[in-house]
Formats: sequence, structure tokens, C-alpha cells
Amino acid sequence: MITDLSSDVIKGVGIGLRSAHYQDILNYKPTVPWFEVLSDNYLSPGGMPLYYLERIRQDYPVNLHGVGMSLGSTDPLNLDYLLRLKRLAQRIEPAYISDHLAWISVNGCYLNDLMPLPYTKEVIEHLARRILQVQEFLGRQILLENPSLYLTFTESTMPEWEFIQELLEKADCYLLLDLNNVYVSATNQGFDPFDYLNALPANRVKEIHLAGYEEREDYLFDTHGYPVHNPVWKLYQKALERFGTVPTLIEWDTDIPDFEVLMVEASKAQQQLAKVELRIGN
Ligand SMILES: [Fe+2]
Repeated sequence: MITDLSSDVIKGVGIGLRSAHYQDILNYKPTVPWFEVLSDNYLSPGGMPLYYLERIRQDYPVNLHGVGMSLGSTDPLNLDYLLRLKRLAQRIEPAYISDHLAWISVNGCYLNDLMPLPYTKEVIEHLARRILQVQEFLGRQILLENPSLYLTFTESTMPEWEFIQELLEKADCYLLLDLNNVYVSATNQGFDPFDYLNALPANRVKEIHLAGYEEREDYLFDTHGYPVHNPVWKLYQKALERFGTVPTLIEWDTDIPDFEVLMVEASKAQQQLAKVELRIGN
């Protein structure tokens, strides 16, 4: 029995929960509609991270966002990892569970990075089979995040948006649309990010990520260590118009600033979201 996610359970602009902010959040209970955590940091059934997460969960909805499913790998699914994730989900009761369109393991060796996939029918079949197994095991549908890419495979037979569209249908799962990633890939590969948004299936976009990239000499690098850049805010506007008021996360993973800085980013996103909400309401 799989719980489907057809109705929305979170709204507004959430913030990525980082350990540097645990105590402030407990002390001051900021007005944030929901938080998202990196689930891989909470898989041990004890310890301080889980202690804080459970306390924060008493006041806020939480999403579990992970990197460990390695859905694109040819290794067997890691049942130990999935079992620990399932137990965490039973404790936390997250709104969404998500992972990435990527692979991170080969012959049982785990890499520290999310690795890209060639976009072919064969890879769609492979991923869809594994996603369906994961959803069966967890008893719920999951969200998959689009990658930020620095290279393409000559083996690919379709653009990323077509690959994602077909995969979401086959695996009956949802998209976590990272707009920073779309912009980074579009710049590095030379496609139009607005064409990308126009091609995605609106009914499958369940969450949006906003983050900041780093400008390198001749490419963009996805660091999640900066405020959201202007071109990504423009994409956000377009995404809200096309997909509606999708729950949105401010994601910041390196050089983590004071919580107030994240609140400022979140309120910028909330203003854009509220304008679209008003227009839809009218
Ligand atoms: Fe993201």
C-alpha cells in the first residue's frame, strides 16, 4: 500500500535546517512554515542531531531530503540504508521524502558526489524499476531532484526535460525542481532554462529549491553557498506562473550564514509566491 502525495501537505517557503541554527530555532520559534533536513545526517537511531530534529518537529512540518538512494547505480538497492530511512520517516512523519536523479555508488564503493546519468530509454527503465521498488518499500511516493550538470554524455538520446517527464510517469513519482540547478546546467550546457520549465509536466512538480551558485572562469559551480542570484529569481517567477504556488525551499549548504540571512531570502521568495497566489485567487 503506497500513500500518494496528490494533495499538498506543506505550503509557503521553508528553510533548510542546519545544525548551526538548532538552538536559535528552539529558543525563538521563528515563523517558518516548514523545514527540510538532509536525512543522511539523522539515520542513527540516537544522538544529538536526532534529538534536536525531534524537538523541532514538534513545532514544524519537516521534509526528508537525502543523497544516499543511489537510484541510478547498477549496484543492488541498499536495503540497510532504506530501512534506516524508513525508520526515520516513522519517527519524523515527513511531508515529503526526496532524493536525486543521480548515482553515488559503484561495486559497493560510495562516492562523495552525485554523479550524472546518460539520458536514454534504457536508463529510464532502470531508474523507474528502482524507484517503484523504493516507493513500495517506504510505502509512499518520493520526489526526485534534477541535477546540476557540468558535462553531457554522447550516449544521451533526449534532453533532460524529456527524460524527466517520461521517468516521472513511468515511476509514478514527483519532481523536486531545483531552479538553481536548472540555471547552472543551462548556462554550462547552453540551453534555454525557460524552454526547460515549459517542457515539464505541471502536475508532477511538488517542491522547488532555490539556492546560490558560484561563478567560475568559464562555468557556474553549484555550491549552495550564496544568496539566490537574479536569473534564478526570474526563473522562480516563471515557475510559479506555470506550476502554481509550489512549496519552496531556501537551500544553503556551505558557508552557512546567520539564520536571519536565510529568513531574508525566504521572505523574498514568499513575496513572489504571495503575488502569484493573489493573481490566481483573482
Ligand atoms: Fe536542491
